[in-house]
Amino acid sequence: MKALQIKGYGDIETNLSFNEIEIPTIGDNQVLLEVHAAGVNPIDYKITEGALKRIHKLTFPASIGFDVSGVIIKKGVKVEGLKVGDEVYSRVPREFPGTFAEFIAVNANVVSLKPSNLDFNYSSSLPLVGLTTIQSFNKANLKSGDKVLIHAGSGGVGTFAIQYAKSKGAYVYTTTSTKNVSWVKELGADRVIDYKTENYLDIVKDIDIVYDTLGGNYTVEAFDVIKRGGKVISTIGEVDKETAIELKLNGIIRFVLSIKRRKITKKIKSKSAFYKLILMQPDRNQLIEIKKLVEANLIKPVIDKTFPFSESIGALLYQKSGRVKGKITIKIK
Ligand SMILES: NC(=O)c1ccc[n+]([C@@H]2O[C@H](COP(=O)([O-])OP(=O)(O)OC[C@H]3O[C@@H](n4cnc5c(N)ncnc54)[C@H](OP(=O)(O)O)[C@@H]3O)[C@@H](O)[C@H]2O)c1
Repeated sequence: MKALQIKGYGDIETNLSFNEIEIPTIGDNQVLLEVHAAGVNPIDYKITEGALKRIHKLTFPASIGFDVSGVIIKKGVKVEGLKVGDEVYSRVPREFPGTFAEFIAVNANVVSLKPSNLDFNYSSSLPLVGLTTIQSFNKANLKSGDKVLIHAGSGGVGTFAIQYAKSKGAYVYTTTSTKNVSWVKELGADRVIDYKTENYLDIVKDIDIVYDTLGGNYTVEAFDVIKRGGKVISTIGEVDKETAIELKLNGIIRFVLSIKRRKITKKIKSKSAFYKLILMQPDRNQLIEIKKLVEANLIKPVIDKTFPFSESIGALLYQKSGRVKGKITIKIK
């Protein structure tokens, strides 16, 4: 079968190639999927470039891609609740990527039927951003009536997060640039802040939760807009103590990280705030939750562009541009 693989850490164009490899064999608890579509995420180019090699070391050639939608064509003897022919979607575990391929073996406990009102392509755009958002807002204990700031409302995470937070009854502020303001409003955000013409720090005050998808200074500033006791959940900010332990980082690295996050540690204390860098985990029950939200028309995926399989490298380059409107997908079958 054909699979996109990384041959070594480095730039996307020279380190990715299509290889002919064996169709994977499955374990007792796995299913074999014929891949119809794969969702693209920033993690795909970051892994290729080696940005995650400290926490996720690859053996080359390494398959790539985490989001998938396809059909079960084989199942392990211990798999229950799924059958051959089922149309499914998944975010595959970090240790076993490879959705940019014609087939993939996946642990059945992270596979769910896809939303019945979406095709494979749209379904493949949802798992990673959906799971990240649900896990983030669960950590923040999101409640109806909460005021939430979602940064980068036009991004993959942001487009899902706006709709999810609205479905839970939150008041949503979001940031994006001028060209995206009108369609991001249509996702349901209550106040879309055009960062080209407005300063969100003048508008957002005393809120319950910041969902930070930008990192850097945005993580630090998040503590200036939350109320006392508010919560900041980041997908990309500094590594907190709990996350460093989850990542099994050694004592020296944990010490270095504690120095790096000194600025936010001070702010956490002064605001009695909660801060967490989320590390999204695959989860079948939450995929089922996403399926129900989509089937109830509470969440509609936004796809910017779908690339043919042969142009997957172009898809990653576009993802890296940082200007994607919603999601990018790759059509494989
Ligand atoms: N920790 C985890 O488990 C986890 C999970 C998912 C994602 N992530 C990380 O979270 C980050 C976001 O992911 P994503 O998929 O949403 O990325 P993305 O889709 O590539 O984000 C692109 C969007 O960001 C917007 N943007 C860029 N700069 C902005 C700014 N200064 N203010 C407001 N919007 C801005 C862009 O809009 P404009 O063109 O209008 O600027 C664009 O629509 C990535 O770094 C990703 O790696 C982490």
